[in-house]
Amino acid sequence: MRVLVTGGAGFIGANFVHQTVAERPDAAVTVLDKLTYAGNRASLANLESVHLVVGDVADREVVDPLVADADLVVHFAAESHNDNSLRDPSPFVTTNLVGTFTLLEAVRRHGVRYHHISTDEVYGDLDLDDPAKFTPSTPYNPSSPYSATKAGSDLLVRAWVRSFGVEATISNCSNNYGPFQHIEKFIPRQITNLIDGVKPKLYGAGANVRDWIHVLDHNRAVWAIIEKGRIGETYLIGANGEKNNKEVVELILELMGHEPDDYEHVADRPGHDLRYAIDATRLREETGWEPTFKDFRSGLADTIAWYRANEAWWRPQKAEVEAKYAAQGQ
Ligand code: NAD
Ligand code: DAU
Repeated sequence: MRVLVTGGAGFIGANFVHQTVAERPDAAVTVLDKLTYAGNRASLANLESVHLVVGDVADREVVDPLVADADLVVHFAAESHNDNSLRDPSPFVTTNLVGTFTLLEAVRRHGVRYHHISTDEVYGDLDLDDPAKFTPSTPYNPSSPYSATKAGSDLLVRAWVRSFGVEATISNCSNNYGPFQHIEKFIPRQITNLIDGVKPKLYGAGANVRDWIHVLDHNRAVWAIIEKGRIGETYLIGANGEKNNKEVVELILELMGHEPDDYEHVADRPGHDLRYAIDATRLREETGWEPTFKDFRSGLADTIAWYRANEAWWRPQKAEVEAKYAAQGQ
């Protein structure tokens, strides 16, 4: 099977490529990645069989021949960070909307199976004391420019399925953690701060809840949907991992040998979503998928060990990332 992975040099995409090469010897993997600030060639080091094409998913001339040569497209590429979308939404519109449109037109022309990677943020947020979780029938209600462009890209996929018969599935996953995550994101930012002797930074009071899942479990679910999912359907991916941000910071501090209150509060994110929570019943019942990382504490300890062991991978970005946060009081 010839698999085209967009965004394969980013966090989740790179883990997907490693897993696919290790577990699926029948798959020939090509990565299409623009290598933006979030893409890192080093994340694909030692994968000689993987062909990396540096290019833009919104560029039809690049996309068309790659899709024509594929049996399956798995579309991870995106501008993915909410805080960046508040500073400058423009690349979010181009990559997340025009990029998805460009891929959909190519899979339509060439009759190629397509899987769309999306986020639980398309559903907006939940109250802290609400027993409800997101389900595939929750109305779309995105809050940030990032989540609005992801929501728009999902709707493009649905329309291309219905209007043009494109063979596509969509998955909306909750917050991922694990190796190769860019250090602008919450968990790796705090781990690398502590390695540098800097206190973790908690937005606002730290009461916001995220539903954490290990990146390897996300990607296993993606393969389960590709193999067993129904065309045109949306599958929510989550592993019942709800934690508030304060709890996560306290656990990182404890695992790294610090006092649990050794963090500081910084300016909150404008429009900050309060809580995400996933009901993954459809995924579990239709595909049999179950998460393998059931203990957040040990998954987090492994992730901390990975950042300690791979300083050369993240160090070049640290000063610039922190300067951007400092400029906005975070
Ligand atoms: P990331 O920012 O780490 O990686 C994105 C990758 O896409 C990078 O390698 C980047 O170079 C590439 N890219 C960006 N613009 C491109 C373009 N125009 N053309 C080609 N490549 C381009 O992102 P991530 O956290 O790995 O997220 C991957 C996908 O998963 C995204 O679609 C995101 O919305 C979704 N998602 C992420 C999470 C999470 O917790 N990180 C959760 C649910 C869904
Ligand atoms: O829910 C899925 C989404 O999860 C994905 O679609 C996004 O691509 C991914 O970035 C993530 O979005 P979040 O905004 O939830 O993740 P982030 O890592 O930026 O922040 C997680 C929480 O931690 C959020 O409530 C904001 C808070 N935070 C973040 C940073 C960077 C802090 O308290 N301090 C920080 O320094």
